[in-house]
Amino acid sequence: MIINLKNINKALDLLCSGELVAFPTETVYGLGADASNVHAIKKIFLAKERPINHPLIVHIANIEQLSTWAQDIPESAYVLAKEFWPGPITMILRKHKLVNPLLTADQDLIALRIPSHPIALALLKAFNGGIAGPSANKFCRISPTNEAAVQEELGNKVSYIIPGGNCQIGIESTIVDLSSDEPPVILRPGMITAEQISAVLRTNVVYRSGSNNTTISAGMHKIHYAPQTPVVLLNLDNLTTYLAQQSLPEAKYAVLSTDPLPTLSTQVSEVIMPTTASSYARILYRTLRELDKHNFHKIIIIAPPTTTEWTGIYDRITRASNNIIAPEIR
Ligand code: TXA
Ligand code: MG
Repeated sequence: MIINLKNINKALDLLCSGELVAFPTETVYGLGADASNVHAIKKIFLAKERPINHPLIVHIANIEQLSTWAQDIPESAYVLAKEFWPGPITMILRKHKLVNPLLTADQDLIALRIPSHPIALALLKAFNGGIAGPSANKFCRISPTNEAAVQEELGNKVSYIIPGGNCQIGIESTIVDLSSDEPPVILRPGMITAEQISAVLRTNVVYRSGSNNTTISAGMHKIHYAPQTPVVLLNLDNLTTYLAQQSLPEAKYAVLSTDPLPTLSTQVSEVIMPTTASSYARILYRTLRELDKHNFHKIIIIAPPTTTEWTGIYDRITRASNNIIAPEIR
């Protein structure tokens, strides 16, 4: 990819003046602000309409910067960083004592990531500091995976959107909590799987199962990442019965499926989805965002395969759904 230095410099000037800049990462677009400027961080929460008990991810340029933002860093963090950074994994570590509590929702823990997108990396290297960057969408909406989607979400709230085309991965990073002596905990699954993390660390890795913590961490909202059109997750076997039960002859349905559908009524628009998890993830949000503009009564997602590489996708489509008649992946 050819990086336009003019764009990087423009973004850099704005970040240094405490403004918001949206930037592409390999997962989704981020809404960036100088992570050491409390006024800039406040603008993120205002722009996203995000409650301040939702902590932010800080993006950094290299592993050396880890110790600026975190302390008591376990060896496992360096092992994972060496294997997966730059890349789509975020680590939760003990925060450095100087980190502003607004970034971390007043907890002692901080989320850190080195993204691999060349534009994000070029910006981070030029900035030479941390960039706070949640996904560049309004709170509880689908993350944007291209600049047009950022424009739709936050066009009037952000000083500049660095153009970077479509994101390669398409869903948000895997979040792994390494802050305790317990086995690492996946707080949000992504395209780097628990199995991959477990193999690299040679230890058991668990998924978070409930929390009594008062701070909201990744995806604790039941409905999150949702389009405006109601989404239903169904097994293919249930589709015909489901449509018959709806008995709304005028209603139109979009049906996303990796397998061709049986012949159905003209009420149904079939959207054939890729059969590999990586290709499916890449277009999932883009597809939902597009379908959301077409006045469908419902978006029906036919349950994709349930093997481990689909865990991140399952998490997102389950959260987007108001009604689920499909298998649990785990
Ligand atoms: O792929 C990604 O991770 C994207 C790109 C832009 O890097 N970022 C992203 O950020 O998805 P955001 O803020 O939309 O989601 C981060 C999640 C939030 O659900 C937040 O609650 C959680 O990470 N999080 C952040 N700091 C945390 C912490 N200290 N402890 C637990 N969860 C944390
Ligand atoms: Mg988000």
